[in-house]
Amino acid sequence: MKISVIGTGYVGIIQAVGLAEFGFEVVGIDIDESKVKALNSGECPLYEEGLEELLKKHVNKNLTFTTSYEPIKDSEVIFLCVGTPQDKDGNADLRFLFSAVEKIKETIDKEDYKVIVIKSTVPVGTNRKVKELLRGYNVDVVSNPEFLREGIAVYDFFNPERIILGFESLDKKKPIEIMKKVYNYFEGKNVPFVITNWETAELIKYASNAFLATKISFINEIAKLADKVGADIKNISYAMGLDPRIGNKFLNAGIGYGGSCFPKDVKALIKQFENNNIEPILIKATDRVNEEQIKWFFEKIKNYYGNLNGKTFAILGLAFKPNTDDLRESRAIKLIDMVLDSGAIVKGFDYVEKARENTTNMYKLNKSKAFYGYNLYVLDDLYETVKDVDGIIITVEYDFNKEDWEKIANLVKEKVVFDGRNVLDVKKIKKLGFKYYGVGR
Ligand SMILES: NC(=O)c1ccc[n+]([C@@H]2O[C@H](COP(=O)([O-])OP(=O)(O)OC[C@H]3O[C@@H](n4cnc5c(N)ncnc54)[C@H](O)[C@@H]3O)[C@@H](O)[C@H]2O)c1
Repeated sequence: MKISVIGTGYVGIIQAVGLAEFGFEVVGIDIDESKVKALNSGECPLYEEGLEELLKKHVNKNLTFTTSYEPIKDSEVIFLCVGTPQDKDGNADLRFLFSAVEKIKETIDKEDYKVIVIKSTVPVGTNRKVKELLRGYNVDVVSNPEFLREGIAVYDFFNPERIILGFESLDKKKPIEIMKKVYNYFEGKNVPFVITNWETAELIKYASNAFLATKISFINEIAKLADKVGADIKNISYAMGLDPRIGNKFLNAGIGYGGSCFPKDVKALIKQFENNNIEPILIKATDRVNEEQIKWFFEKIKNYYGNLNGKTFAILGLAFKPNTDDLRESRAIKLIDMVLDSGAIVKGFDYVEKARENTTNMYKLNKSKAFYGYNLYVLDDLYETVKDVDGIIITVEYDFNKEDWEKIANLVKEKVVFDGRNVLDVKKIKKLGFKYYGVGR
């Protein structure tokens, strides 16, 4: 079977490479020429563990990349994996999706049967709208939302918790049969298939992300009280998580969720409620807690020093989570901006080389922030980063305990740590003379 994947970002590259590994003949299509060029030469334009190896294994064999839509003519299945960012009002911006649909219309023959699969996260009603846009074409539209977690996305592709497939009608057997062929690899592997209608599939994705975001905001709110009353949020999370009805995942207090999905998807879900004249009481609170959390943490830092002007900080972690280079809505970047705005100097570090590279590029490219070029340094070595600083701020959930804290204690100017992810062994740190400030502990 020939398959096209339109949009080769985090989701699209993994989808294209994964389908190639299944043995399909795959073409990845993107409007970004430099991305296509890199991919065709076996270079992955983003960091994801194990991805480049798989890309190299298949590229120019059963996997190619192009900026042309022509290959979709020969594809039975066309995946849409373009971005659906947030527009200025908080809605999902569907410009990229609709522009891709227009290009599909211009390219395919009306009579040629195709299955168009929407993998991008799209508001309820979008699959129906795409079908309408393709009226007169012999196509079926399938909603197949993506659930991969950046940082372990390759693993997730081959080990999904579930596969959601939304169809216009469950009476039509053809698209269901084709999608089962596409995902045949998972047959007999205990992967639940949820076969449903478009609207349900679309809402499963938003509800899942909003629920996880709510768990995070919930524990972050409790952490604020724990902080005030001398309780330890780590123990609270641990004990709560022992109840299987609650579960221990997404229950770590910190400086809030970031990334390319949760913030925008929570906001887009709020909009979907409002567009349907329903007040999203809980989900709005989830969003608000998250917006406030980083400000609350920053206040802690400010309260300690009084004035940050002229101070130097090591910010450990740049991307929105461990093992990724993705800076979208990264809390670390938000905090860097806050610290720089207070007149302080920032030395930033992340274990992922590409996260450091992206940070350097982002600040250089962003003209309005060019000034920060003088006050922000991105370093390749953690020990260089902490040298002579007035404080260390942890922003990404890496296990920093594995570092040599005795050495760090000798390098810093002032022994104080603000642990925005509650990762450090407090006893050990305090023994070395550090003052420790976590989130709710
Ligand atoms: N990143 C994640 O972890 C994740 C997880 C689940 C779902 N999603 C959803 O998947 C979708 C894609 O996310 P992403 O992170 O991969 O985005 P991305 O921004 O990394 O990639 C999108 C790609 O689409 C390309 N593109 C835009 N318009 C195009 C067009 N008309 N034709 C061809 N290519 C085009 C862009 O050049 C870019 O390479 C979004 O809806 C997102 O919400 C993302």
